[in-house]
Amino acid sequence: MPEPAAISLLRKECRSLHRELERKDTFTKLLKRDVGIDDYISALSVLYRFVSTFESGLLSLVEKTPLSEVYTPRLPLLRADLEELNGVPPVRDDLPHETKSVEEACGFVYVLEGASLGSVIIRRHLKACLGSDLPLRYFGVRCEVPGHWEKVMGQLDAMLADPSSAAKAAKAAAGAFRTLISMDSR
Ligand code: HEM
Repeated sequence: MPEPAAISLLRKECRSLHRELERKDTFTKLLKRDVGIDDYISALSVLYRFVSTFESGLLSLVEKTPLSEVYTPRLPLLRADLEELNGVPPVRDDLPHETKSVEEACGFVYVLEGASLGSVIIRRHLKACLGSDLPLRYFGVRCEVPGHWEKVMGQLDAMLADPSSAAKAAKAAAGAFRTLISMDSR
């Protein structure tokens, strides 16, 4: 079956940014054999700052659309993992991003839900290196749930049938990747 146009565009706009993200210290350290608990806490803190930038402004819009059937809020999971590890969820000093349109919401859901595809690898590695007691709520969410990503893509495709909507979503998704890339260095 050919790839839906909206998904193709999201992938095209984000592919090289995803590669750039994977090369950032936060994520390369997570996948090293000598990964330490501090590396894990620091990755959770970066992800907490990233998700908190987008999620609060996103949820009110998601709730009014079919995206609510596929999106799982991540912030409570990151907070619980950090707290269990005695890490402190970072306090934001800037305002969260206000999601202005359904198209933008689709772009952010693509990035935030898509992250669970990589979590399969990350979770297995962290468990093997840091033990099976490690709190892994964030890296375990929707991870390895058969058919979930296909459902997300189907929903996005249905909501982004118009090429101009797909372009807006792809721009928002790329912006979210750039935000996370910039957070790695702080
Ligand atoms: C070390 C860190 C990461 C690794 C190793 C990783 C790895 C992967 C892998 C293996 C896939 C599946 C590719 C496929 O099946 O075609 C994927 C997809 C994806 N990842 Fe990551 N990922 C990482 C971090 C992230 C983060 C932090 C985000 C966003 C916050 C993210 C967003 C996405 C998205 C949106 C997709 C879906 C691409 C698509 O199929 O359209 N990833 N990642």
